[in-house]
Amino acid sequence: MGYHTSEAENPIDILNLASLEGRVKERMEAGAFGYICGGAEDEWTMAENTSAFNTKKIMPRVLKGIDHADLHTKLWDIDLKTPIIQAPSAAQGLAHEKGEVDTAKGVAAAGSIFSISTYANTLVEDAAAPDAPQFFQLYMSKDDQFNEFLLKKAVKAGVKAIILTVDSTLGGYREADIETQFQFPLPMPNLAAYSNSDGAGKGISEIYAAAKQGLVPEDIQKIKQITNLPVFVKGIQSPVDAEIAIQAGADGIWVSNHGGRQLDGGPASFEVLPLIAQQVAKRVPIVFDSGIRRGEHVFKALASGADLVAIGRPIIYGLNLGGAQGVQSVFEHLNHELSITMQLAGTKTIDEVKETTLLD
Ligand code: FNR
Ligand code: LAC
Repeated sequence: MGYHTSEAENPIDILNLASLEGRVKERMEAGAFGYICGGAEDEWTMAENTSAFNTKKIMPRVLKGIDHADLHTKLWDIDLKTPIIQAPSAAQGLAHEKGEVDTAKGVAAAGSIFSISTYANTLVEDAAAPDAPQFFQLYMSKDDQFNEFLLKKAVKAGVKAIILTVDSTLGGYREADIETQFQFPLPMPNLAAYSNSDGAGKGISEIYAAAKQGLVPEDIQKIKQITNLPVFVKGIQSPVDAEIAIQAGADGIWVSNHGGRQLDGGPASFEVLPLIAQQVAKRVPIVFDSGIRRGEHVFKALASGADLVAIGRPIIYGLNLGGAQGVQSVFEHLNHELSITMQLAGTKTIDEVKETTLLD
């Protein structure tokens, strides 16, 4: 019996992003839902990711003549309609029959950046929406020829940057996947394009086992030499690691704890953002993710040193509930909450948000 998933293609009404999880749970196969929704061990860090935003406050400001917020921003030469981008996530065929193709369409409609995972259910060259910015997220393989093969395919597909994910040299202890004995039901064509293993019928731990565990800073230069593209290093939580990555040539730091799916017992990603931003000192752009569910979370991350924020699970839920239009609805909702927060905080532009000092 094959894997059945959503074929929805419609905008979705959203009260808040957190409520999407329950709507998807009702309609998605238990194994797939557990894989997407789940975190590591007690899911303490996953919960902290969102609650940590309550440790900082935004001072309301008035009499500043602001009648609307302007969410436009830029990353390098890429114009964006919002500071919110999509975090790369594997196997989006679990959420929708069109998978990454519909996600890319919805992200493009939102004027944002789409990032495709090495472990996608779509070939890197087949996902991007026409004329829309796409990044390729690399899980480095032990096989350097495979890495070169994948990276050259990504360059040929016109990606604008490479994301090297460094926090997942093995999988966190994810109990939902153990309880459901989750195995990916659909092939990962970027793996199949090079080897006879396409990932179908395997769990994430087996997939990770084929990746390179011994990642080193020199790997950043390897990627730059092959692609001549900027490299974001994703999964940084320590300011020391941020410095090491920049010294090794990183063109961007992606502050993330993988949405609490890796080291449980680690800090909330928001907790470490200010320290990393201080260390980076605006030498390279910072993307922040893990736990963003509200416009005020976006605001607080931007005010704490992030240039952009990324969301993971909410986009997958939007994909399941509405396909490309569902993904676009998620952006529209979070942009709406951010606009309200910005106006009530007396900040008209994203640059003004970045200059805001939060209260302890
Ligand atoms: C992810 N994430 C991820 N990250 C990455 O670099 N490559 C990947 O293939 C995946 N795959 C993946 C699958 C699923 C189902 C989830 C939920 C997450 C991590 C992702 O990029 C991001 O760091 C987190 O999802 C951000 O946290 P939130 O927004 O989901 O709380
Ligand atoms: C995960 C991997 C694929 O979090 O990044 O499942």
